[in-house]
Amino acid sequence: MNAPAKIAASPITAGQRLNEGLREMWYPVAPSWMLQQAPLGLTRLSQRIVLWRDADGGVKAIDDRCPHRGARLSMGWNLGDRVACWYHGVEVNGEGRIEDIPALAKCVMKGRQLNRAFPAVERAGAIFVWFGEGEPAPLELPEEISGGEWADILCTAHWKCNWRYAVDNVMDPMHGAYLHAQSHSMAEGDKTATMRARDTESGFVFEKTNQTGVNFDWTEVGVTGALWLRLSIPYGKSAGPGGSFGIVGMVVPVDETSCRVFFWRCRKVQGWSRNAWKFLYRARLESLHWDVLEQDRLILEGMDDKAREQEALYAHDGGIVRLRRMLDQLAAAEVASASEPACEHERA
Ligand code: FES
Ligand SMILES: [Fe+2]
Repeated sequence: MNAPAKIAASPITAGQRLNEGLREMWYPVAPSWMLQQAPLGLTRLSQRIVLWRDADGGVKAIDDRCPHRGARLSMGWNLGDRVACWYHGVEVNGEGRIEDIPALAKCVMKGRQLNRAFPAVERAGAIFVWFGEGEPAPLELPEEISGGEWADILCTAHWKCNWRYAVDNVMDPMHGAYLHAQSHSMAEGDKTATMRARDTESGFVFEKTNQTGVNFDWTEVGVTGALWLRLSIPYGKSAGPGGSFGIVGMVVPVDETSCRVFFWRCRKVQGWSRNAWKFLYRARLESLHWDVLEQDRLILEGMDDKAREQEALYAHDGGIVRLRRMLDQLAAAEVASASEPACEHERA
């Protein structure tokens, strides 16, 4: 009998990679408050991961799959340096190595690394995970969420749309004057504009040429180990101290049809005025901001999954077009490097 023919795994395309999420990036996967004592199971970039805190509060992240028979480790127990599976008790440490198999003395599986470990850090009130194959890139966050003179409040939500619609949405300042026309902060200013793009060190700014400092007049995208977007909305004195209101946004793909958005609301306030602002924000502004976010969510969730394939874009969409070009290039580079032979014998 002939040996069965080998079926070659078909390589992933740049378009598929982009839809699932770029891998060579840090992503916020959860706000810090979501990870308490128990292990936390999440799906991000279509991968199941389990997070837990060790005895010092540090974050561990590995595949959420028991190496024994595949139960979700996140349904088990946090033992500090390891998690224990609920099904038969197998213990796996933060490097993805089997620490113990309590049901069987001297099992040869002990010490084997069968789970992938993901680098994880906690910054700006969120847990960031690196999904790339190689050494993690340094993570440099925008100054508004790097501490120092700015104070921030993180708000996060699950949206049932591909992550790319969520980033496109931020790269489209003109929607503020329409979708959010009735909002507390974006009712001012011209409803028409001409727009232009301007390069920056880590990405570009897309801005109105006829208006600045009135409404949602510009937006910026950057890649500095993570992909972030930021914008600023002018606020009057009645909205408390700190001048313009900065927003930093990041999006993590959950799978190809949903994502989690992270928006940090930032103001340049120190000392007692920082507390005054945080109080004012919680008491008066937070619910108004949720209303605005809900408008974005409703529009994006209402769009067809394939809306991108049937668009008729005009000049205001220049920021989106440029952003997509940037993401296409990053995805093409990832896919090309993933298909390169890793060592000499693979080339032979
Ligand atoms: S499936 Fe986890 S210990 Fe058996
Ligand atoms: Fe919006």
